[in-house]
Amino acid sequence: MLLDTYGRVATDLRVSLTDRCNLRCTYCMPEEGLQWLGKSDLLTDDEIVRLIRIAVTSLGVTEVRFTGGEPLLRPGLVGIVEQCAALEPRPKMSLTTNGIGLARTARALKAAGLDRVNVSLDTLRPDVFKALTRRDRHRDVLDGMAAARDAGLTPVKVNAVLMPGLNDDEAPDLLAWALAHDYELRFIEQMPLDAQHGWKRDGMITAGDILESLRTRFTLTAEGAEERGSAPAERWLVDGGPATVGVIASVTRPFCSACDRTRLTADGQVRTCLFATEESDLRGALRSGGSDEEIAGLWKAAMWGKKAGSGLDDPSFLQPDRPMSAIGG
Ligand code: GTP
Ligand code: 5AD
Ligand code: SF4
Repeated sequence: MLLDTYGRVATDLRVSLTDRCNLRCTYCMPEEGLQWLGKSDLLTDDEIVRLIRIAVTSLGVTEVRFTGGEPLLRPGLVGIVEQCAALEPRPKMSLTTNGIGLARTARALKAAGLDRVNVSLDTLRPDVFKALTRRDRHRDVLDGMAAARDAGLTPVKVNAVLMPGLNDDEAPDLLAWALAHDYELRFIEQMPLDAQHGWKRDGMITAGDILESLRTRFTLTAEGAEERGSAPAERWLVDGGPATVGVIASVTRPFCSACDRTRLTADGQVRTCLFATEESDLRGALRSGGSDEEIAGLWKAAMWGKKAGSGLDDPSFLQPDRPMSAIGG
């Protein structure tokens, strides 16, 4: 198993399939995009499936999430899901996407064995969407979400980041809309993972702000700690339930002590944390003929070095070199 020195066990693997994206969210990347990984840097589909197989069959991983950049940009996605669905034991599989292209692929993904999707949507207003993501694709995202729900990739969770002066007045509208469409909405506190290093703690919308805004229109009741487990989202029952709304308060209420995650980048590096400043190379071992046992050993050793927490509150905190789009959220 993937145990660390604080007694946490990583059973949840997040795999970034590409660092590229077709949006340019202001809290993530600059207008001009980034220096993308080259083709030979990227793991091949077979290499990815092999690493997931090792994680699932030898290291105790039970859940696999595909992320990006934008994972729908990876041509082999459906095939990767299909091969992972054939593993014994079969992992639970989910996808975190910006939703563009999902309308076309939702049914194929479901048929390949994907269980559910999380889609990013920060606003209900097309003009604000364009300002936030620098692309005019609001309609594609809405269509993608509906297609995912109709294909049974449920529950469809919606991730929203609120940005001051842009969409920070939208929390109650987003919740009313999510309830009406049967989506599970979660708000995410903005984290210092943008490529531009523009994050400022006093400039972000906090979980406290979000809850205050929601309570102007809804009654929220905290869900019990047992239901939360190791999930990053704290959830509230809306108007007595059963519908819920979540807040992922990575900055103001970190949940590192319950973390059950290990991450794999698109170029084959293990990251023990979103905020890790060091990585462990599995691609080198894969490409120099390493055995499954050797690769599993490297992965275990990497996790043994996992730090207690994100370090966000330390005066010496340094933002990792790799931005969110190359880690995979
Ligand atoms: P569910 O099981 O569907 O609830 O997944 P999730 O919330 O882990 O997945 P998703 O990819 O939708 O991530 C939502 C937000 O949580 C993103 O902004 C992530 O960056 C953040 N997040 C995911 N994992 C971690 C983590 O290990 N630490 C912190 N601080 N934030 C995380
Ligand atoms: N802080 C918080 N969330 C972010 N996301 C991307 N960049 C950041 C950031 N700096 C969100 C996306 C997506 C999820 C995977 O992470 O909006 O919903
Ligand atoms: Fe793309 Fe996600 Fe970054 Fe937006 S936040 S630019 S959708 S990787």
